[in-house]
Amino acid sequence: MASYAKGLEGVVAAHTSMSFIDGEKGILEYVGIPIGELASNSSFEETVFLLWNGRLPKHGELDEFSHKIRSRYAMSPALEARLMALPKKAEPMHVMRTLVSSLGLDDARPDVTDVPEVREKALTVLSLVPTILAGFHRYRQGKPLIKPDSNLPLAENFLYMLNGQRPTPTMAKAMDVCLILHADHGLNNSTFSARVVVSTMSDVYSALTAAIGSLRGPLHGGANEGVMVMLNAIPSVADVEKFIQAKLEHKDKIMGFGHRVYRAYDPRASHLKVLAKQLAHDTGNSALYEKSAKIEEIMLREKAAKGIYPNVDFYSATTYHCIGLPLDLFTPCFVLSRVGGWSGHILEQLSDNRLFRPSADYTGPHDVRYTPMNKR
Ligand code: ACO
Repeated sequence: MASYAKGLEGVVAAHTSMSFIDGEKGILEYVGIPIGELASNSSFEETVFLLWNGRLPKHGELDEFSHKIRSRYAMSPALEARLMALPKKAEPMHVMRTLVSSLGLDDARPDVTDVPEVREKALTVLSLVPTILAGFHRYRQGKPLIKPDSNLPLAENFLYMLNGQRPTPTMAKAMDVCLILHADHGLNNSTFSARVVVSTMSDVYSALTAAIGSLRGPLHGGANEGVMVMLNAIPSVADVEKFIQAKLEHKDKIMGFGHRVYRAYDPRASHLKVLAKQLAHDTGNSALYEKSAKIEEIMLREKAAKGIYPNVDFYSATTYHCIGLPLDLFTPCFVLSRVGGWSGHILEQLSDNRLFRPSADYTGPHDVRYTPMNKR
């Protein structure tokens, strides 16, 4: 018997061995390891290895994996030419979607669905997206592009290419932790989009392009930019109560709160809260953090009973701001990380594929006669 679940809520549509979520208890694990442990001890490269291989790498394996990523940082002349032909005022998420899609043009065998070969292609995309994003940001400012430094890990190299100078170890670490925390999250909307596309045996570039299109929506990854817009609209901590109450009275959603799966505190948000507080203190942005903390206090008072808590996007906004990222790069930074998760899911889907093809409950009329144009 077919049953209907609006928004596919509660429907199990795939197997995965990458991330486990217990939304009631607020648990997130990557391959069984609590997310907080990874954020404290791992690196983004190691986390991606874990997600793609189902285990932590041994010493030589991590070096080899990291070396492969670093050797693919540089854009081809064709890709760079495409970047330089884009309108400077393009929204960075449109740029990410367009240029990731265009990578299929440079690939002599884009249609391959053989898992080891798709994995190599995904690794190339993972290595290139920071260069694309940093390159576009510099290009739109009229600044020369910075060549990647293959001695640097992915997060640090991204900030280096963006700003033209090495980030402090604190900033590099904060960026790396953000990438770890955002890497995978069950069958979220963008991951589902990627799996749906590749289930037709379409190519990895099409699947990743669809995922980026999904992620930019304000109900999904786009919420981190919405959080920052909200924080900027509140003049001071003293104004938070009035601002939030007015929004709640209008039944507006507060960006960065609520989640389809969590009915408890998102464990990524609790880690980011600590990081945001420290970074805000170090960078003279304590007022921003205080506003966030006050919003949380009000929302917990008003909405915790309904299971609405801060999600990953809430404190990532303050964190990214303190790292010095411009507002419209927040969601693209989510892409840099989630390419790891999307690709792992694409590989899982290809390993045991069945075409996604749910049904729709038809609600229109039946047996209607065709009316000629002059009688309508
Ligand atoms: N602010 C205020 N009320 C909220 C919020 C919020 N952020 N989120 C949910 N609610 C309320 C709804 O108004 C609704 O109330 P009602 O029962 O009185 O009508 C109830 O909680 C259920 O909300 P739904 O939107 O039906 O829940 P759903 O599971 O579909 O929503 C979602 C999840 C889309 C994330 C929602 O909480 C939301 O829009 N949040 C704001 C956007 C956001 O932060 N998105 C990022 C999510 S994390 C990520 O994608 C990376």
